[in-house]
Amino acid sequence: MGDSIVKALSGVSLKIEKGDFLVVVGPSGSGKSTLMHILSALDHPTSGKVFIDGEDTSVLDDWHLAMIRRNKIGFIFQTFNLIPTLNSVENVTIPTEPMNLDREQVDERAVSLLKIVGLGHRLFHKPQELSGGERQRVSIARALINEPEIIFADEPTGNLDSVTGKHIIELMRKLNIEEKKTFVIVTHDQSLLDFASKKVFLRDGQIIKLELNSKKGA
Ligand SMILES: Nc1ncnc2c1ncn2[C@@H]1O[C@H](COP(=O)(O)OP(=O)(O)OP(=O)(O)O)[C@@H](O)[C@H]1O
Ligand SMILES: [Mg+2]
Repeated sequence: MGDSIVKALSGVSLKIEKGDFLVVVGPSGSGKSTLMHILSALDHPTSGKVFIDGEDTSVLDDWHLAMIRRNKIGFIFQTFNLIPTLNSVENVTIPTEPMNLDREQVDERAVSLLKIVGLGHRLFHKPQELSGGERQRVSIARALINEPEIIFADEPTGNLDSVTGKHIIELMRKLNIEEKKTFVIVTHDQSLLDFASKKVFLRDGQIIKLELNSKKGA
């Protein structure tokens, strides 16, 4: 920023293991979104490395990084990021568009994912005809369409009331346990820590504490 250097993250070392339900909490500006972007290879760190499935992402070109993101990673956003003119099934299948897949099979898979997230009765609704919680369920189904290994969620409950938010985090935990998906969730909302298998506390760009949840370990 002009002459001053902002260190959004500093000295962060973190290992995410298969089956983790990792919740990162920290106040606004603590570096949560930056951490997500670095971990998911959307941004490059100025120093340090990120390994995904043992692969050093710092040596990969943009095409390989895009392939990793498409095949191994699902994303969930605070603002859902659904396309308003498309219905639920169409929104869920969007990440598969660049791929040469059998459309009928993809649609079938989208329908089954929408059923898993509890939206079997909202398959052909447009986002504006859905509640906030329902929109986030569509975006969770979309995150799963390419059968990713890991799902990154940035403030997934940030635009939802607390009861709906709890249902959404419970759904993600269920997918973690039943579908064996790894989740990394960043949030300022401390109440989401109750669901975590691993808890990371971020402050001023540094991990100040890492805790395992003995009660709910995945
Ligand atoms: N492109 C940038 N240039 C300069 N500073 C940046 C940039 N992006 C982020 N920052 C700074 O880095 C720090 C971390 O930002 P980040 O967006 O990761 O925080 P956050 O924890 O996600 O906050 P929030 O809860 O408000 O979303 C902040 O101080 C922010 O101002
Ligand atoms: Mg953020």
